[in-house]
Amino acid sequence: MQSKHLLHLVFFYLLIFFTLLDYAISANGSSSTAEEEDDVDEVIGYGYSIQSAIDDSSGKTLTARLQLIDNSSNLGPDIQFLTITASFETKYRLRIRITDANNPRWEIPQEILPRQSNSPLRRSLSGNHPSPPQNHRLFLSDPSSDLTFTLLNTTPFGFTVSRLSSGDTLFNTTPVKHHPETYLVFKDQYLQLSSALPPHTSNLYGIGEHTKSSFRLQHNQTLTLWNADIGSAELDVNLYGSHPFYMDVRSPRGTTHGVLLLNSNGMDVVYAEDRITYKVIGGMLDLYFFAGPHPEMVMEQYTELIGRPAPMPYWSFGFHQCRYGYKDIYDLENVVAGYSEARIPLEVMWTDIDYMDGYKDFTLDPINFPAEKMKKFVNALHLNGQKYVVILDPGISVNETYPTYIRGMQADIFVKRNGIPYLGKVWPGLTYFPDFLNPSTGKFWGSEIKKFHELLPVDGLWIDMNEVSNFISSSPNPSSTVDNPPYKINNAGIQRLIGEKTIPATSLHFSNITEYNAHNLYGFLESKATNEALVNVTGKRPFVLSRSTFVGSGKYTAHWTGDNAATWSDLAYSISSILNFGIFGIPMVGADICGFSGNTNEELCQRWIQLGAFYPFARDHSAKGTIRQELYVWNSVTTTARKVLGLRYRLLPYFYTLMYEAHSKGIPIARPIFFSFPQDTNTYNISSQFLLGKGILVSPVLKPGAVSVDAYFPAGNWFDLFDYSHSMNLQQGSYVKLNAPADHINVHVREGNILAMQGEAMTTREARKTPFQLLVAISGRENSSGEVFLDDGEDVEMGGEGGKWSMIKFNSGIVRNKLILKSEVLNEEFAVNQKWIIDKVTFLGLNKSFNKIKGYQLVSGMVVKGNRQLEIRINANSNGYVNVEILNL
Ligand code: GLC
Repeated sequence: MQSKHLLHLVFFYLLIFFTLLDYAISANGSSSTAEEEDDVDEVIGYGYSIQSAIDDSSGKTLTARLQLIDNSSNLGPDIQFLTITASFETKYRLRIRITDANNPRWEIPQEILPRQSNSPLRRSLSGNHPSPPQNHRLFLSDPSSDLTFTLLNTTPFGFTVSRLSSGDTLFNTTPVKHHPETYLVFKDQYLQLSSALPPHTSNLYGIGEHTKSSFRLQHNQTLTLWNADIGSAELDVNLYGSHPFYMDVRSPRGTTHGVLLLNSNGMDVVYAEDRITYKVIGGMLDLYFFAGPHPEMVMEQYTELIGRPAPMPYWSFGFHQCRYGYKDIYDLENVVAGYSEARIPLEVMWTDIDYMDGYKDFTLDPINFPAEKMKKFVNALHLNGQKYVVILDPGISVNETYPTYIRGMQADIFVKRNGIPYLGKVWPGLTYFPDFLNPSTGKFWGSEIKKFHELLPVDGLWIDMNEVSNFISSSPNPSSTVDNPPYKINNAGIQRLIGEKTIPATSLHFSNITEYNAHNLYGFLESKATNEALVNVTGKRPFVLSRSTFVGSGKYTAHWTGDNAATWSDLAYSISSILNFGIFGIPMVGADICGFSGNTNEELCQRWIQLGAFYPFARDHSAKGTIRQELYVWNSVTTTARKVLGLRYRLLPYFYTLMYEAHSKGIPIARPIFFSFPQDTNTYNISSQFLLGKGILVSPVLKPGAVSVDAYFPAGNWFDLFDYSHSMNLQQGSYVKLNAPADHINVHVREGNILAMQGEAMTTREARKTPFQLLVAISGRENSSGEVFLDDGEDVEMGGEGGKWSMIKFNSGIVRNKLILKSEVLNEEFAVNQKWIIDKVTFLGLNKSFNKIKGYQLVSGMVVKGNRQLEIRINANSNGYVNVEILNL
């Protein structure tokens, strides 16, 4: 038996022993310590105490019935009896669910977010008739899990979640005397749960969507979750999406766990004085703990529950150009021509609401974007290997002559209030909103998309305004606490009523689900319906870009960070936003390059394309009325765009392989540095740099006028990807001042990585035809490794059962004076059929001379002082296989 398992078993039995001992002691009457008695005497306030507790025979579930001690004064009546159920759903996942013991409450339906239910109870700890436990602690511990759950029979009660291997307390709801903020409160419209966090060792990331100046959450703030159309240029307020998930990295060892509160209602999450406190206005407290202990493992465990990220088509990793305000088809044609003349790669041309007739979905403006010409335009893009994406908004124009509206009314699929469709107002004027909770809406939406696709064969869809955004605020129902709940979340930073600028909370969805409960799910449900519609219509891997998101949206959509501003601060904040969405399980994310609102300028745009070229999703987008900001507008930006997009396109196989890793394991494409270096505590508070995959570090300039950048590098040998002869071999993590003249961004690869790269091209289709070249960053400390995933880039499945893909894993190391590079090909058929060619291998970081290479032709690469690199040409048709040996090293 492995020693870890043995350790777990010992712990487990010790816990059982102490639990039983507790029972025995309490039976003798001396039931509690002085301190605990003190608690019982003094803490007479609200909160709950344990009435009875039972577990199931599997030892994986523990349930207790809780009884209210006393009513709390405000925010409505308390619920008298609750149940708390703790269960190990997998060895990495502990779920703790607290809800009304006697009445069902709102929770996200299983069909929307499938998840395991708690297993039925079979055995009572205290006999057939559950009775209050006399002991003071009840443990739940699974021998295979590193987590334990402890129920504390104090008054009020509390619970803790701990990590066995380190003894760390991860979550601790023990009430603090005289601090009602720390007590559990459970009312119909106000739920409060608070946990202490260790003051100096806990580092939190996540809980969004917000724009933040710091990626690591700072203390003393309220994070509000309620989807709203608030421009992302506003700091610290609730934005378009809701993700009540955080990752907690514990200093100094970097052990990491994740915590999700699965709840779709509005909430404030208060992070203050070393506590995290949830204040939620509905639903139930359904908490999930993901054991990690590595950040990558937390992502695997989290996305196992919420759904793995959707695979994105290969082309979506090319460069995208968009603008609100392209006035007609000629404008679009000129932009496409502008890119081509400037020799800047343009993969996807986009059109905002300008293409529509009166801003009505599924229509084309007959004057400025006439159907026949648009068809020719899109065909020409396709012939050139380019793509076309348009926007859709959820609001359907209320207009008796508009076929989509008529069909919507016939299908009866709009959100209702007072028995009739709720009337809002968006771009086309008065609108009704499709109710995506209604199964018929998927059919309606899918068939509208199909009809439109027959008119214009778009390659992807951009779904906007889906928080839902409404230009008007309807009056709340004066007698309803649904429209006007007793606890005011800090909506928009001003405790704005929850129904403002959206659908009123008393509106009803299918089967009488209130907007109050389902509000945060709107964009998620629209993404799902749009994704499914595109699969049905095109038979290909769909590309959907959604502004509003919720837990699990990554399974259906990409995301952009919404309406930022063309400012230096928004350039900088885009990094935290992108890293957050990686953690939320939506790895395909980008910010509007060069800035959306306000006029950009040459220097800002130059720096922004340098950073944006390394966003997973790279799109230039701007608001109507602002100056033009296509990358060819300024010479300096043109030159820089060619350079940085050149590197992006050479790295396309790497980006795409990271997409596969994200899709199969949930690990983000763009990652915080601590993902690869969790034990380097200097990385915990970095918001200005990020990793692509495990080994490429991007260190952008984020300030005007700067020609250098202060960057942090974890220990290791780092090579400049624009000039391999520049390297830094750091014995320990170091802050480094790097040159960063106007046309340069620092991008480094670390020793230990092997990158499979291809050639530059104007489109991904052309780039994919170029031979591969391997970049092997040799390491003195470890073997180097890398992999590349190959498929046709647009099959609905990525790496599924069908086998229309190959994965090539490379490994390199020095063994007895011999440098060896080898590959292993999984599912080789695809690689063989594609006539896959590696024509060059470059080794970086050699520290000895060599004199013989087996079987390959040497191109260059005397091991020059200060430039220890070697290039060899591979002349064989490799089909993914390489087997290089460099002798006498
Ligand atoms: C919203 C979107 C923005 C778009 C505009 C017009 O503000 O966030 O990207 O350009 O609407 O459709």
